[in-house]
Amino acid sequence: MASDRYAPRAALCGWTIGGRHEGGPQGERREEPGDEGELRLELSGAVAVLGIAGDGTVRLRAASGSALPALPETAVERGPWRPLAPRVHERKQGGLGVVSPGAPVSVEIDANPFALRVLDRTRHAVAELRDLRLDPEGAAQVALRVRAGERFFGFGEKRGGLDKRGERLRMRNRDGGGEAADPLYVSIPFFAVHRPHGEGAGDCGLLLESFGPSEFDVASRRDDAIAMQTATGGLDLMIFPGPLLRDVVERFTSRVGRSPLPPLWALGHHQSRYSYANERQVRELAAEIRSRRIPTDVVHLDIDYMDGFRVFTWDPKRFADPAALTKELREQGLRVVTIVDPGVKVDPDYAVYRSGREHDAFCRRRDGGEYSLRVWPGNAALPDFNRSEVRSWWAEQHRALLETGVSGVWNDMNEPAGWGADLRLGRTMLRLREQDVSDVVQSDPSDPERVVSHESVRNLYGLQHCRATRAALESFGREHRPFLLSRSGYAGVQRYAALWTGDNSSRWSHLGESIPMLLNLSLSGVPFCGADIGGYFGHCTPELYARWIQIGALYPFARTHSARGGRRQEPWRFGARVEAIARHALQLRMRLLPYLYGLFREAEETGAPVWRPLCWEFPDDPEAASVEDQLLLGPSLLVAPVVERGARRRDLYLPPGPWFSWHDGARYVGPRRLEVDAPLERLPLFARGGSVIPTRSPVAHVGETAAEPLVLEVFPGGESRGELVEDDGETSAYRGGVVARTALRLWDRAGGRLRLEIGRREGPYRIEERLLRVGIHGCAPPDSVFLDGTPVSRNEAPPGYGVEEGCVQVRLLDRGEGAAIEIEPAP
Ligand code: GLC
Repeated sequence: MASDRYAPRAALCGWTIGGRHEGGPQGERREEPGDEGELRLELSGAVAVLGIAGDGTVRLRAASGSALPALPETAVERGPWRPLAPRVHERKQGGLGVVSPGAPVSVEIDANPFALRVLDRTRHAVAELRDLRLDPEGAAQVALRVRAGERFFGFGEKRGGLDKRGERLRMRNRDGGGEAADPLYVSIPFFAVHRPHGEGAGDCGLLLESFGPSEFDVASRRDDAIAMQTATGGLDLMIFPGPLLRDVVERFTSRVGRSPLPPLWALGHHQSRYSYANERQVRELAAEIRSRRIPTDVVHLDIDYMDGFRVFTWDPKRFADPAALTKELREQGLRVVTIVDPGVKVDPDYAVYRSGREHDAFCRRRDGGEYSLRVWPGNAALPDFNRSEVRSWWAEQHRALLETGVSGVWNDMNEPAGWGADLRLGRTMLRLREQDVSDVVQSDPSDPERVVSHESVRNLYGLQHCRATRAALESFGREHRPFLLSRSGYAGVQRYAALWTGDNSSRWSHLGESIPMLLNLSLSGVPFCGADIGGYFGHCTPELYARWIQIGALYPFARTHSARGGRRQEPWRFGARVEAIARHALQLRMRLLPYLYGLFREAEETGAPVWRPLCWEFPDDPEAASVEDQLLLGPSLLVAPVVERGARRRDLYLPPGPWFSWHDGARYVGPRRLEVDAPLERLPLFARGGSVIPTRSPVAHVGETAAEPLVLEVFPGGESRGELVEDDGETSAYRGGVVARTALRLWDRAGGRLRLEIGRREGPYRIEERLLRVGIHGCAPPDSVFLDGTPVSRNEAPPGYGVEEGCVQVRLLDRGEGAAIEIEPAP
């Protein structure tokens, strides 16, 4: 995307409010839903509209000529864009001032050259745009002013560090396997600006909506600007004010959509390999998983389950009775997820291909011929998921697969990826990339009657594929809440699918990179994300696997996967010591499941990700903003993974407040740096003082009854309020309110006592009487322990308490009636 072909910087020539305007390429009239509340700006040789929504989101759309492209909302199932009616005045110094009563921001526009400032209520600049240039071919460019000290997070799935300052990033979905740097499989043209707090405006976020390629120069060529460019469709830029990162992400995700609560089983460990190639191997795998007590919930079947890589088929010899297989695995608490690529083998004897042709489902070349690309089955035709009837047709193809007892789907190769040609060199097959797609066309997602170049909507391909698959899972899935995993995506893909970061390698650097990569993906609206544990390509060493599974067990999406030809990566392939480490790591995940599940619920409600950078929770701490190799799992757990070969100690940073080592209960007070022992068996993990973390005793899979179904881990040193929400873990009944809610309130020092109030359980979801254990950490043996004001004695049976290694364990029977536990003296 060269910048020299751009028109000169735009200047403002006139303005009007509301009303209809011309749109579309043929000049047909289109009604713009937002017109009522938008300010229309006549620019030199171009047109723009500006809208401010009630939550403060500012949107600027601009295109060369006199017509704007249709709003993309309908194309990607977004809610309607409803800006408030603006009030406009001409400023004394020239240009315009725009306020929308009720919105927390206002806008100032300079006329020549055109520039735009979003101001917060104290008139600090939230965002400043300048250098708007629009090209008659549809390309657009604009720059965001950058100041010293600002950090730039997000940008979807990107390699490298957390702060993207100084980088140039491209958005064009492609197969990013091996050492490919940028772009990769997913394009999310969104980023957040994180600012030092206490001075000036708070944080903000920007979404450069474009389904075609786009580019960001993040203060690399010029250190005072982020230059943003789109290739087609003009400019459609949204600015989300903060003041905090959590506000930015809440606003961004309320626009593009949030990740629905996954079924509980999808939060367990997934075991995958390219490929478990027949029923016998799958049965052996399941038997090993269970006999070795490696907590696991899901087995993935990669492409070899199919008949000649024909999607929606089973190889009749290797998988003769898939329904029996899925049933048998299910009895062992294991679900099956199958890979489904979008490419349909071009084969006139294959029913899915024939049916696709009958439905005119496939992408075409400009000359009208069917487009096919080289991928696993040879030549494959690609469904055009931009049309709703094609999505319905695709969804229908899943019926038999899901009736076989498959619980979830793994959408791969959906950038779409393929290769230009196969080249056989002796026994080796070389796959020559990239395929030429310059003459491929698809339907316009905003207007399916129109045909547009594939390139101009390419970044949407994976998202639309997932949209179709999710519809299938919702209609035919035996499971009530779908699980879908995708490799490709665009902003908002989290509504349909979890993402994994594609084909990484068994290298220490890839382990380390997975931390900022998943944090940035999380901040880009995708909470349910993970990297292949152990690395996909190459030969993982025992030490690397041990370190990888330790942190991988705490990835929001935890899957071990490896490529054909590489060393096998089941957790027991690296010897007894590493097997024990893997078991322990996955047991920790199972213990934390109630907490993790609560974080996913929060992600659906507010967009807050499961993995958070330290500055998410500690916005006032400048040191926290610079930490790129640690993370917070929700508000209460800090993780400092070991990602260096041979390292047995780890230097880390603790933000302000008390922290407790998960390993030995040692108490530290931040802000401080700390060096801790990290033998191979240990992941440095800290709990935040003042938190109550719901856990349970570990199980082999989520369906197994836990010996201790609810254990509240209490870390003194602050006061907090929380809520434990429980449901069936499977169905969508929670959406209708079928949940059980328990309020949790921790008082640090109520009359000299530490006090935990467990509220009366509310809501229709029924829970049988159960044992409840409350572990209060960092506690010397207390003088007295009270339950609802009455002293309880030291004994094992409930109600009673015990003291072990600095932790007071209170046991009681939970009938949902609520309880208050007090420790005297307060620790
Ligand atoms: C792609 C996927 C990988 C999978 C392979 C075979 O490379 O990214 O996970 O194993 O295809 O289906």
